[in-house]
Amino acid sequence: MPDAYETFLQDLRRKKGLDLSGYKRPQMERRINSLMRSLKITDYSAYLDLLEREIQHWRKFVDTLTINVSEFYRNPAQWEVLESKILPEMLAKTNSLKLWSAGCSTGEEPYTLVMILLNRFPNASFSLLATDVDDEVMTKAKTGLYNDKSVANLPKFYLTRYFTKQDNTYLIADDVKKRVKFMKHNLLTDVFDRNFDLILCRNVVIYFTEESKSELYRKFYAALKPGGILFTGSTEQIFQAREIGYTLVSSFFYKRAE
Ligand SMILES: C[S@@+](CC[C@H](N)C(=O)[O-])C[C@H]1O[C@@H](n2cnc3c(N)ncnc32)[C@H](O)[C@@H]1O
Repeated sequence: MPDAYETFLQDLRRKKGLDLSGYKRPQMERRINSLMRSLKITDYSAYLDLLEREIQHWRKFVDTLTINVSEFYRNPAQWEVLESKILPEMLAKTNSLKLWSAGCSTGEEPYTLVMILLNRFPNASFSLLATDVDDEVMTKAKTGLYNDKSVANLPKFYLTRYFTKQDNTYLIADDVKKRVKFMKHNLLTDVFDRNFDLILCRNVVIYFTEESKSELYRKFYAALKPGGILFTGSTEQIFQAREIGYTLVSSFFYKRAE
């Protein structure tokens, strides 16, 4: 017999199309229960009715569960490895790169990559797909308006060159925006495209179960070109990397066999 939480997940999937079965239960349950407490709602079916009726509660629910905060140039040391080692090695072999930012949230990650390529590797040609399960965050990404906090780590040079400051906000240049193709995509259930030179999937899998993480890293492996690279987040070590076929070329950069 499924318990109340499991029944809620089943109903959520049926009524709202959101499948949380691949996510770690304790973290999810704690967040959902805390949202319900803040609304003084004690049973799941009443909460689901509210989520169906009121868009603002649905937004809050999705925001709380997916934790979609991002920033430009997040973990600078890792971007420096990308700029000084990974990209030059890739571009020594091909001049045309196929790139994917998976779980791109509000766009800071794909836009950081575009700025680096335009500035440091101006002769490179590239296509960049940016995907997320949450289309609201991608609407923000397409608008391209950011606050001080999200640009705090970005080298000043990029800020001056690719943004227009409007009061306390920064609007990203169209030349950067137009290089990214945003698309809604669920990493747990949707089909992956193939032949990527580089996939970035950073700070996305923290709430995934070990099983769904392992499957995801296998699917990324198949989606990479031979010799292609997966760039992960700073707390996201792949434990079964060797078994899947990856070689660790630098911390957080995993290479598919040539
Ligand atoms: C913390 S943000 C990370 C943003 C960016 N990659 C970074 O490192 O700054 C996590 C993003 O993963 C997305 N996400 C969560 N589960 C997902 C799934 N199953 N498929 C695709 N994206 C997902 C969330 O919607 C959220 O925007």
